[in-house]
Amino acid sequence: MKSEYTWRNFYSLLLSAHPSRLKLIFGIVFNGISAVLASILPIFIQKVIDSFSQQGQQVVIGNYYLIVFVIFFIQAVAQVIGNYSLNVVGVDVVTNLRIRLWNKVVKLPKVFFDRNNSGELSSRIVNDTSMIYDLVSREVAQFFNAIIYISIGVIVLFILDWKLLIVVLFGIPLFFILFIPVGRILSKISKNIQDSIANLNERAFQMTSENTLTKISSAENFEIGIGKKKIATLKQHLVKQIKILAFLTPVVNLIVMGIVISIITYGGIRVADGTLSVGTLIGFMIVVVMIINPISNLSSFFSELQRTKGATERISEILNERVEKLELGQNIDIRGKSLRLREVEFRYQNQDDGFKLNNINMSIEVGSKHALVGPSGGGKSTILALIERLYDLDSGEILLGNLNVNEISLKSWRSQIGYVSQENDLISGTIKENLLYGLIEENVDDTDIIFACKAAFAWEFIEEMSDKLDTMIGERGVTLSGGQRQRLSIARTFLRNPNILLLDEATANLDSNSEKQIQDAIDNIMKGRTVIAIAHRLSTIINSDQIYFVQEGTITGYGTHEELLGSHHLYKEFYKQQMESGL
Ligand SMILES: Nc1ncnc2c1ncn2[C@@H]1O[C@H](COP(=O)(O)OP(=O)(O)OP(=O)(O)O)[C@@H](O)[C@H]1O
Ligand SMILES: [Mg+2]
Repeated sequence: MKSEYTWRNFYSLLLSAHPSRLKLIFGIVFNGISAVLASILPIFIQKVIDSFSQQGQQVVIGNYYLIVFVIFFIQAVAQVIGNYSLNVVGVDVVTNLRIRLWNKVVKLPKVFFDRNNSGELSSRIVNDTSMIYDLVSREVAQFFNAIIYISIGVIVLFILDWKLLIVVLFGIPLFFILFIPVGRILSKISKNIQDSIANLNERAFQMTSENTLTKISSAENFEIGIGKKKIATLKQHLVKQIKILAFLTPVVNLIVMGIVISIITYGGIRVADGTLSVGTLIGFMIVVVMIINPISNLSSFFSELQRTKGATERISEILNERVEKLELGQNIDIRGKSLRLREVEFRYQNQDDGFKLNNINMSIEVGSKHALVGPSGGGKSTILALIERLYDLDSGEILLGNLNVNEISLKSWRSQIGYVSQENDLISGTIKENLLYGLIEENVDDTDIIFACKAAFAWEFIEEMSDKLDTMIGERGVTLSGGQRQRLSIARTFLRNPNILLLDEATANLDSNSEKQIQDAIDNIMKGRTVIAIAHRLSTIINSDQIYFVQEGTITGYGTHEELLGSHHLYKEFYKQQMESGL
């Protein structure tokens, strides 16, 4: 299923970052000028030296000094401009790619995040992209400079003796024979390196964020073992790369030696039969030695190209993922319309434990309160996720009035639905930033925020904090208790004034005092809205208009509390147990 990552994919990835052609050409041309000047500079330096040995040449020496200085100056300026331009192109390309990747990842569907790890993804965005910077800013300049040096060298060699040049040219295919397979291996190793970095990043992220778990589980040694293993894997790939790169240099030298020996042999024969002067042969050898460095730069460019190609494979894959089309569809005011789930079927793509939502039917009238109850893992949260449209249905439909909700744009739909999830996610930032997350700040003033906080019973703890709404929370800030987080989530939802409210177990795991407050907060926010609530504590949903019992992906019964007590055995059991344990 996975398509191969070709050179074409790689180039279109580079081009998709819109490198400025002008700056690129500028960079290459100025680097080129600098290379040409650098290669003719020795001629003038030699003239200066030679002039010393001749009498009465002061004026000439002065001129040569001046020429050397001017050439050196122009060469230096050209190099500065050239290097600067190419580095700017490199930074631009990396920046554009990072932005594209960022914008892409933000909009990927939930299915993608179920399959991929966040630590790994962040590594892709930050680390993998930087390989491209090195390629563009450093290797490209070296490549073009090498071409210039080699071209000048070859022209000089041609002038000196074209027959001898042919011997040199025979050596060139050898480089290709060597570099094509080696390049492929390097590309693969490079991919492995980036994968290992991503993997290590993922674990490092987990090791730091789940540090409490490590402590309470006394899992420090276990975690050290895992770190060691992952770091060692990365090292292994790095060493492999070092070995190949290290072997490359002597092999290149061997080829060069071969060429030099061929020149000496053939040149020697020619000198012997009088068709070549010794001076020309020596001159020829000097030029060949001069272009050896550029030739090895050229080869390093190709291996670098292969490495970057390998490292960017995942970036390209991510950029080809399908994003959620948030704006596609109608913008509809969902007020006053009933919600209906009809024969909904769904299974998670990434799991094979056989969980499946079967034939889910629900009818939710405007302003009514519905509740989902049932054993853990039965599928309650999944139903809410489907209503929120975090996943696509396998079959069946969700209808708003008579309209399939897929006709409504995701943006319009989600912005009118309040979803207090099981996780009570917070971002790191101030309380206010958390409450306003996703809202346009200008449209909400502090009075609205405080009102929402009061309704959610969150104001009482916010008020006690020194910076009130501006208190930093989440990572690097004040850590909130479970109940406080929930109340903050409720306030956030309240502020959005949603028409349909999805509440996932907002009252689980709390002491009775906090539970009461949260229950009151929910009652406040529920007024005048259509609500679907999941609860483990039946006391909180007894008054619902309709209670659905969800079990193993199926609704096994529904009705009011009284009706279910009479008709549903397991519901009755649930209720009895909770009454007995005093919940
Ligand atoms: N993102 C996911 N990817 C794959 N499988 C999932 C995902 N979320 C839930 N599941 C699986 O789907 C099944 C139903 O889970 P769900 O969260 O809907 O249960 P629940 O009724 O809300 O349980 P609980 O009362 O414990 O919250 C479980 O088997 C669970 O493992
Ligand atoms: Mg759940």
